[in-house]
Amino acid sequence: MSNKKEIVMSGIRPTGFLHLGNYFGAIRNYVRMQEDFDCYFMVADLHSLTTHPDTKELKLNVHRVLAENIACGLDPDKVALYCQSHIYETSELYLYLNMLAYKGELEKTTTFKDKVRQSPDNVNAGLLTYPVLQAADILLHRAKFVPVGKDQEQHLEMARNFANRFNHRYGDVLPEPIAFNYGNNLIKVPSLDGTGKMSKSENQNATLYLADEDEVIRKKVMKAKTDSGPTEPGMPKPDYIENIFDLMKLVSTEEVINKFETDYNSCTIRYGDMKKQLAEDMVNFIAPIRSRVNAILNDEAYLQKVMEQGAEKARVSAKATMNRVREAMGLNYF
Ligand code: TRP
Repeated sequence: MSNKKEIVMSGIRPTGFLHLGNYFGAIRNYVRMQEDFDCYFMVADLHSLTTHPDTKELKLNVHRVLAENIACGLDPDKVALYCQSHIYETSELYLYLNMLAYKGELEKTTTFKDKVRQSPDNVNAGLLTYPVLQAADILLHRAKFVPVGKDQEQHLEMARNFANRFNHRYGDVLPEPIAFNYGNNLIKVPSLDGTGKMSKSENQNATLYLADEDEVIRKKVMKAKTDSGPTEPGMPKPDYIENIFDLMKLVSTEEVINKFETDYNSCTIRYGDMKKQLAEDMVNFIAPIRSRVNAILNDEAYLQKVMEQGAEKARVSAKATMNRVREAMGLNYF
């Protein structure tokens, strides 16, 4: 990879089944970044051990995340697409950073407090130091930009603090990373039930997954909440109708959107027709991605090659950073 470009790093949890919100919020950012930056995109399989110690489904979940990201346009020849557990240097940096992370700040982390509440019986040290492992992922490549959502801001701030402490104690080695997106966070991907955004955990019937079959997509879209239509020309749209227009803006042509806007404003809109159109446009958008995902999942040799190739690239940068880290820390006496 060229060393002129800025370095981008992000991690993707292997929780399986990406949805439309992930596509427009995150993956599209990655796909665009691969042209402009030196990118390291990692499947965070070690992080998943903090909450899912049972690894029976891990392999399939890792494969699925890789396949979904590749099917959406991430190119393993352009970026380093790799698995966290394949890069042992991560664990080493994690150990060093743990000496610079304080119990108090770790306990105050929002995601930690949430997880303690959700699973009080499994409050393990890995869970407490989750942000330290994440910092190791990022700092290992001396990355400057980290495309993540708002929920990860606190982890990123902690990564900056750990880098800063390292640099003060041992010398300037680790750049402080910042969150960066192309403004895709502003794109709204509302859920189909008129409340909130599409989400992995809440109401799966109101979320469109890239793995959904055509008929499932149609059924979910047709169930979206509407009413008996506007009663006065040009009246403002209720939230749940605005949502349907917002979803259309993601996948439909301008003509289609304009037609329904006009129909709405003249009170002649038929929501049944609008949803049928949206359903077909969603099918046309999702079906090709879904079939690419399935083809990739069926080709284990290809996935193996992708992971090997990604790990090789990631190791080059990890090794270079760790040489500097050990040198700076004075661990170079053998
Ligand atoms: N914690 C992130 C999430 O929940 C995943 C992640 C792991 C990550 N390592 C990372 C994100 C490094 C950015 C950079 O989504």
